[in-house]
Amino acid sequence: MDAIELLTRDHRAVEELFSQFDGGDDETRRSAAEGVIRELSIHAAIEEEFFYPMVKKEVPDAAGMVDHGIEEHQEAKQVLAKLDETIDKSHTKAYAEKMQRLQKLIADHVEEEEKELFPTVREALTKTRLNEVGTLMNKAKAAAPTRPHPNVPANPAVQAVAGKAAAVVDRMRDAVSGRGES
Ligand SMILES: [Fe+2]
Ligand SMILES: [Fe+2]
Repeated sequence: MDAIELLTRDHRAVEELFSQFDGGDDETRRSAAEGVIRELSIHAAIEEEFFYPMVKKEVPDAAGMVDHGIEEHQEAKQVLAKLDETIDKSHTKAYAEKMQRLQKLIADHVEEEEKELFPTVREALTKTRLNEVGTLMNKAKAAAPTRPHPNVPANPAVQAVAGKAAAVVDRMRDAVSGRGES
């Protein structure tokens, strides 16, 4: 599976969840909010552990774009952590406003990835390499953190240890609360 296609597909899935939240009744809003938190946490983790480090190493002049992306992830994770902590208030106006703030952050970030970063990466790397990393990321999704961890640095070495430990705890919490499906 092509890494860029996989990440782009994730972006569309999250947009779909945002629009479900916007138009939904209380129950739909809650499950859409849980979905946004889960999908974005997994997406950020696999980008930070696999995609961004590959780009930094293998794509000339892309380090600045990656660092900028990591900063935006950090900002998004802080909002996600608030949304996760206050999930019981997902029916309120204040919650919807926070969700809107997140949606705007993500829309800007996704636009930069899809218009600048991804085309640069596609030009620099072979299809074989993109398939290789895509396959790795697809596998890693099953064990990635499902909640935001703004205090775990977006560093692949740290992610590999602290991120994985956090993922185990996330998945236990998901099982207890009936959240998510994998
Ligand atoms: Fe992304
Ligand atoms: Fe990203």
